[in-house]
Amino acid sequence: MEFQKLVGKRYSVRAYDPRPVEEERLARVLEAARLAPTACNLQPFRIIVLPTKGREKELLRIYGRPWFVQAPLVLAVCALPDESWKRKSDGWNAAEVDATIAMDHIILAATEEGLGTCWIAAFDPDAARDVLGLPRAVVPVAFTPLGYPADSPPPRKRRPLADLVRRDRW
Ligand SMILES: Cc1cc2nc3c(=O)[nH]c(=O)nc-3n(C[C@H](O)[C@H](O)[C@H](O)COP(=O)(O)O)c2cc1C
Repeated sequence: MEFQKLVGKRYSVRAYDPRPVEEERLARVLEAARLAPTACNLQPFRIIVLPTKGREKELLRIYGRPWFVQAPLVLAVCALPDESWKRKSDGWNAAEVDATIAMDHIILAATEEGLGTCWIAAFDPDAARDVLGLPRAVVPVAFTPLGYPADSPPPRKRRPLADLVRRDRW
């Protein structure tokens, strides 16, 4: 799909069809994350693929909205701050930015495949650690359901470009 069209097509899907996601589609979505840029190419992120069937109750501890477990899959993107690039001047750690870019590749690749997603950051980090068995050094950054949409896109609400872009200086 042409890129501007793809970006325009993506929206936060909050109702899903339970029909399975084909393995080839999932593979292409994951490959898009694999090719994401990361600081110094250190790739300090991991993706956990979670089938929802039979695990609904447990997954709802992570994020309690019923639509979170409607799709056949949930993906979790985690950052590895001990394995990421740190800026020498002030120690700033790129791990969560790297993980976020990987998630955005997932989201856009899923749109290309006709699949729905929704960024989820309002999850319970302790429940996520427990349910996913995350080691201490692993930071859960974002979740998304992955499945066929069962809703339609609402009208886009965005600030005008003139509010968002400055030229030359703040
Ligand atoms: C970092 C981030 C975290 C988000 N967390 C949640 C969330 O926890 N729950 C939710 O329903 N939507 C969440 N969203 C989706 C936003 O609400 C949504 O992207 C925004 O309202 C614009 O709507 P659109 O995605 O349909 O264009 C999140 C989006 C981003 C980028």
